[in-house]
Amino acid sequence: MAEFKLPANSRVQTGKTFPAAAGAKRVKRFVVYRYDPETGQNPRLDTYEIDLDDCAPMVLDALIKIKNEIDPTLTFRRSCREGICGSCAMNIDGTNTLACTKHIGDVTGDVRIYPLPHMAVIKDLVPDLTHFYAQYAAVEPWLKTKTPTPPDQERLQSKEERAKLDGLYECILCACCSTSCPSYWWNDRYLGPAALLQAYRWIADSRDEAIGERLDELEDPFKLYRCHTIMNCTNTCPKGLNPAKAIAEIKKLMVLRR
Ligand code: SF4
Ligand code: SF4
Ligand code: FES
Repeated sequence: MAEFKLPANSRVQTGKTFPAAAGAKRVKRFVVYRYDPETGQNPRLDTYEIDLDDCAPMVLDALIKIKNEIDPTLTFRRSCREGICGSCAMNIDGTNTLACTKHIGDVTGDVRIYPLPHMAVIKDLVPDLTHFYAQYAAVEPWLKTKTPTPPDQERLQSKEERAKLDGLYECILCACCSTSCPSYWWNDRYLGPAALLQAYRWIADSRDEAIGERLDELEDPFKLYRCHTIMNCTNTCPKGLNPAKAIAEIKKLMVLRR
């Protein structure tokens, strides 16, 4: 098994190695980013050797095993364990994805695990998502209406109108897309693919009566137009969604209403 090596100029240091238990037959190495800003020390990479014969199949299973049985100081987020909550988003084997839906068997060689890129790190694999959530809130992700609510029924949609929300409503706000986007890394006023997909989810909703206001809000050199169709977002989305297409649809509406 080839050992993972840091580049010579890296400020990340090689940390501790936790060897597999004696007699382990199917050993896989997990190289995990460790950082605690409160210590004042540079980040390091710790290596944990796990016997795959004694571990469930997903990367999150290995992280939970490490925390429960080897090193309780390892910090990461998780909740649902089935790709629904978005909490376990991290960079695994060079790609932003969900640890709970990533098979260990899909990674050749060492499993390298980092926090989502270009975010401040709170500790280990936990990024600070404060700005990301503020951007989500900024698109006002709720139904806005002006006409009175029908007295005796819900606001109805045809099947065709409802189908326009497919590919949008499934977003779990994991932030894999936004943190893979170079434009998002360099422009903190750019809303990024996740918030823009969410904005389009309401623009595309036949029941929403604030489409003009929503487009006015996005008509801004930074919030929307920093997207340069690089497509990292769509390539990385663990739910198979297409934020780049949603952004293109918003841009198209901007042109049509001129
Ligand atoms: S679009 Fe996909 S990658 Fe982006 S936040 Fe939603 S689920 Fe995550
Ligand atoms: S398509 Fe747009 S949002 Fe997606 S990664 Fe590229 S620049 Fe970012
Ligand atoms: S733990 Fe909920 S998406 Fe992975």
